[in-house]
Amino acid sequence: MQITLETKPFAALESGALVTYVFEESDPVQGRVAEIDHAAGGLLRKLANGSELTGKMLEFTLVHAPAGLKAERLLIVGAGKREQFNSAALRKIAGGALRYLKARSVRNFALLVREGDATEEAAQVIAEGALIANFESDKYKTDKKNDKNVDSVLVAGYSDAESSAGEKGLARGRVIADAQNFVRDLVNEPSNMLTPRILAEKAEAMARESGLSVEILEEKKIAALKMGALLSVAQGSIEPPRMIVITYNPPNAKPGAPVVGLVGKAVTFDTGGISIKPSEGMEKMKYDMAGGAAMLGVMRALAALKPNVKVICVVPSTENMPGGRAQKPGDIQTSMSGKTIEVLNTDAEGRLILADGITYAKQLGATHLIDAATLTGAIVVALANINVGVFGSDQAFTDKLLASSEAAGEKMWQMPIDEEYREFIKGTVADIQNISSGKGGGAITGAMFIKEFTGDTPWIHLDIAGTAWNEPDSFLLGLQVCRGALQRAFFRFHRGTRNCALHLFRCFDPKK
Ligand code: BES
Ligand code: MN
Ligand code: ZN
Repeated sequence: MQITLETKPFAALESGALVTYVFEESDPVQGRVAEIDHAAGGLLRKLANGSELTGKMLEFTLVHAPAGLKAERLLIVGAGKREQFNSAALRKIAGGALRYLKARSVRNFALLVREGDATEEAAQVIAEGALIANFESDKYKTDKKNDKNVDSVLVAGYSDAESSAGEKGLARGRVIADAQNFVRDLVNEPSNMLTPRILAEKAEAMARESGLSVEILEEKKIAALKMGALLSVAQGSIEPPRMIVITYNPPNAKPGAPVVGLVGKAVTFDTGGISIKPSEGMEKMKYDMAGGAAMLGVMRALAALKPNVKVICVVPSTENMPGGRAQKPGDIQTSMSGKTIEVLNTDAEGRLILADGITYAKQLGATHLIDAATLTGAIVVALANINVGVFGSDQAFTDKLLASSEAAGEKMWQMPIDEEYREFIKGTVADIQNISSGKGGGAITGAMFIKEFTGDTPWIHLDIAGTAWNEPDSFLLGLQVCRGALQRAFFRFHRGTRNCALHLFRCFDPKK
């Protein structure tokens, strides 16, 4: 799909539809929309008087063959209250409009930004919204019915003077959206199509295409490095594990500057191992690699956005299977760090592989660590599928991440990691144990376990178990308010789409 800037006046735009948005206020027909109304002979005012045009968020009003316009249709989208309008809302409007028009076989449209909105950021979020919304997950359907396709989107309402800012925004938006769709493609793959080996191949191909350096550690190297925690999870499967290492090294990084280490959990299928999961819903555990996929997507975006900070991405990948050689509850493993772990529950495997991932990222020179993992069911109990759980050992660092998630409209909520919780993982027969002996605080216990391996390095842990997957039939559908990645529009127009951690891209936005 093409997305380009167009500086022609709106009345002259030839397209399947001219799209713009109105606010929920006593008179929604103002400014540019009043001009359209004038061209269309007062039609919009009539609709507004008859309450067919109220400005409510994501209300769609479609007019065919509008007078005074070259476009075949006019689509007015509700933008909600003017005071609450922001980039996240505009992203949703762009995505919502695309889904609405695509469903009606419209192949191209022009999105006219409102007066005052012709900025770089607006163009960026429109590109993001449209490209993210255009994503389809019908890869394995043989009957694709895909005559419906949006070929091109024009972004209009920019003057010649504003157009270079608009172009820049579109370019950034394309990078971020393409990276996010890349992540979603990975997360959607079932485990027979995406084993650790295949994930590593795809990561390597992405890195090479993006001009990033990459090293894939195979089982021999993993054993030589004594990554005993990763190996303990992998030993129950006939599929060998992989440690994916991708580095973004900016040409003029200063010596001694911070090096960000991104570590992502990539369990391509989590049966629970010998502590096996119940069969109901187990098919979902193909998405237990979403943290790793999100980090790979971040790297893909960074390669194009070129911020001036070195970033090392480490993605441990394995299956968690109950094979004949599987580890058993009570087994004691020695992690790469040398710390010994009593594995009381083989289903708490994510923290095991992250332990070695974190140790390795530090060894490679990371001075700041961020991990993302579908780590615990407990975070879903605490925050449902609305907020990502954030745990941080350095408040200044954590605050930066929280501020960028806020700016992106991506919901995150900080959880505690007081020293008192360390008791939960203190070992009796080994240094530490992988689950708590008591009850409660399951997400915190997972975080405390990972923290053991971070030492003095500032670290943030993102538990994305609740947010990495969009539930098409969730009872929460109607409650979705605003998430950066256009969540509400997806829920409404794109059942079954999965979203993965757009906030991570935002966090490394060189502008923020
Ligand atoms: N991958 C799961 C966590 C998960 C649960 C992700 C639901 C997505 C949705 C993780 O490996 C796991 O099994 N965690 C256990 C930990 C427990 C054994 C301490 C859990 O949450 O039940
Ligand atoms: Mn598990
Ligand atoms: Zn898991």
